Amino acid sequence: MLPDLVESTREIAGLSITPELFDKFQRLIHEEAGIWLNDSKTALLCGRLSRRLRALQMATLDEYYEFVTDPRQEAERVAMIDAITTNETRFFRDPRHFEFLESRAIPRWRNEAQQGIRQKMIRLWSAGCSSGEEPYSLAMLLARHLPAQQGWNTSILATDISTRMLAHARAAIYSIAKSPDIPEPLLKDYMLKGTGSQDGQMKVMPEIQAMIDFQKLNLMHGPFPPESHFDAIFCRNVLIYFDAPSKQRVVERVTRCLARNGILFVGQAENLASVKSSFRSLLPAVYAREGEHVGF
Ligand SMILES: C[S@@+](CC[C@H](N)C(=O)[O-])C[C@H]1O[C@@H](n2cnc3c(N)ncnc32)[C@H](O)[C@@H]1O
Repeated sequence: MLPDLVESTREIAGLSITPELFDKFQRLIHEEAGIWLNDSKTALLCGRLSRRLRALQMATLDEYYEFVTDPRQEAERVAMIDAITTNETRFFRDPRHFEFLESRAIPRWRNEAQQGIRQKMIRLWSAGCSSGEEPYSLAMLLARHLPAQQGWNTSILATDISTRMLAHARAAIYSIAKSPDIPEPLLKDYMLKGTGSQDGQMKVMPEIQAMIDFQKLNLMHGPFPPESHFDAIFCRNVLIYFDAPSKQRVVERVTRCLARNGILFVGQAENLASVKSSFRSLLPAVYAREGEHVGF
């Protein structure tokens, strides 16, 4: 038995990992965040966790596992999930989604308000908002097309599992290198260019920041916002991490928060084909509930 055991122990990124230990991390990460690392992800796990071990000055993954599963180490479990997930995002990512909002959804909401069948109130949810580029893009668009001066009350809930990403998002400061992603008129009106020690940075204007409530929320465990609450939900490039049962659960739970005639946006590389719920596709990665009249 011993030679087998030795053979199956792998050395990656300077760390030893047995299949048993990999299984333990696989289960822990799944319980914590719904992310299922298949067996081909041993190198990814070791590579990403090696940073945590360095930060904590630990030598072995066994020692780290003991530490991270201690009930008092909630913050480290968050840091572990942070290390495993990719937080990549961009302002106005998937421009077709923002064009859809601008040319279809916002005119419909405006019409409904004119006809007196909706209040001048729009609520959006950016579920898995990372460092904030997605909710700030949405806020800029709402501020431009449904301004408070015309009586609109618009707000965005922006949530993520990662406290590190939420802190970044709340700070609202970005590299100026990201400015080409923002349409020129919105950049001009809603971003402040840094000077002096802030050179090379830009900051979101306070009126846009005030539209967004950033909250920590694990899509596997909640706590979830009220049901039937949001006119549109952006759950983009998050579902990709989940295994099929978790994806099913998350989509069901998230869409319960969608108001009647609401719209669900997922990532361009994601779809709801494997999810047992009745949605119809309005555009790739844009969905409405079957039977609802969203007017498109
Ligand atoms: C790739 S980013 C997507 C950001 C943005 N939605 C976009 O499309 O550009 C995915 C985000 O999902 C978050 N995430 C991963 N698992 C999560 C979970 N179980 N609950 C909440 N957020 C999660 C990660 O922390 C990360 O910030």
